[in-house]
Amino acid sequence: MAHTFVICKPDAVERGLVGEIISRIERKGLNIKRAELRLIDRETAALHYMEHDGKPFFEGLLNFITRSPAMLLQVEGSDDAGDDIFAVVRNLMGSTNPATAAPGTIRGDFGLLVTENLVHGSDSVESAAREIGIFFQAN
Ligand code: RTP
Ligand code: MG
Repeated sequence: MAHTFVICKPDAVERGLVGEIISRIERKGLNIKRAELRLIDRETAALHYMEHDGKPFFEGLLNFITRSPAMLLQVEGSDDAGDDIFAVVRNLMGSTNPATAAPGTIRGDFGLLVTENLVHGSDSVESAAREIGIFFQAN
């Protein structure tokens, strides 16, 4: 069964949009396999976003993702969705900058700032496995 990893970021939790985001994932035909509301610590955040280490927005990104609890989701697809489940979820999310994300997507409908773009989704099969390991290790 194919899996991907989704974070309803602190802004989504603060704004009461977790139900909306989960609902969109479920209505698409995907299932929530595991969910946990957690305050992400800085070390874990840095590991998760290590591809962005050194970029100008890195410190701000860590400050944001650790500022209040986030909803961590392991999302499961049907066998038919195969390895493309991460792409299905990324399409539901919309492009990185909510200001220009397409209406009908989560970011396009509810976001305005690239720094507070509501949701994270793995961008490949490999990153999904890596991220599920980081956040749900030994479980
Ligand atoms: P994510 O990893 O959070 O799912 O977002 P993404 O793939 O759509 O975007 P990515 O390029 O991986 O960037 C990670 C997060 O960094 C913030 N960012 N800020 N100020 C900026 O120019 C800038 N660029 C990226 C965004 O919050 C993005 O989600
Ligand atoms: Mg990314």
